[in-house]
Amino acid sequence: MSGQGLFISFEGIDGSGKSTQARLLADTLRAQGHEVVLTREPGGSPGAEEIRALVLQGDPDRWSAETELLLFMAARRDHLERTIRPALAQGKIVICDRFADSSRMYQGLSRGDLRAQVDTLHALMIGVEPDLTVLVDMDPAAGLSRAKSRATVEERFEDFGLELQEKMRAGFLALAQEFCDRFEIIDGNRDIDAVSLDILTTVQAKL
Ligand code: ADP
Ligand code: TYD
Repeated sequence: MSGQGLFISFEGIDGSGKSTQARLLADTLRAQGHEVVLTREPGGSPGAEEIRALVLQGDPDRWSAETELLLFMAARRDHLERTIRPALAQGKIVICDRFADSSRMYQGLSRGDLRAQVDTLHALMIGVEPDLTVLVDMDPAAGLSRAKSRATVEERFEDFGLELQEKMRAGFLALAQEFCDRFEIIDGNRDIDAVSLDILTTVQAKL
């Protein structure tokens, strides 16, 4: 989709190591001389970061699944307009910690049975997919304990618990089959360096 740039997303359950690995990949590619924009969802632009606080803080039942979906979509549209598209148009590598696949999973599968609505809104308002999606696959209990050990205020989703994490892990693996042309599954149950080496090998093949 990206024309001149390369659009890479990271997906996986909470605590799988996405943010760590996205940061390491950005550092390595920059050291190789590439122009890299490291960004995240929800967020990645000033407006979308404001929406981030609305969806990630507060009680788990603060929003219905439908309202939550609309908030995530609004944030993504702003992020796409202000950050992702301009960077790709300038030939940069965009590394995004979560993108539309997270909506397909969290709003589409776990919070409600909203996958059809996610896909319809995505087609209407977003309409782009990453060139490469790195799925950091991770044992759900280990992921949750890693995520919980961070102790931030952004725990609304982690508060849905282990059952959600298990459903999400299976869902992400199924999504990787559905979009097998762009997904690469990386085993995240290893030390940080082993995981990052695998990811780098996968990304180098796309460059
Ligand atoms: P995510 O973005 O997927 O939620 P993070 O990258 O924030 O995950 O990692 C969650 C926690 O686990 C952090 O404290 C991080 O330092 C730690 N962590 C990340 N990758 C590993 C790994 N391979 N082994 C052990 N701990 C890790
Ligand atoms: P994130 O900050 O990436 O959490 P973590 O580092 O713990 O993986 O994302 C916060 C939460 O937002 C995460 O639990 C998944 C959820 N989320 C959705 O429900 N829908 C979406 O479209 C996105 C991008 C995230």
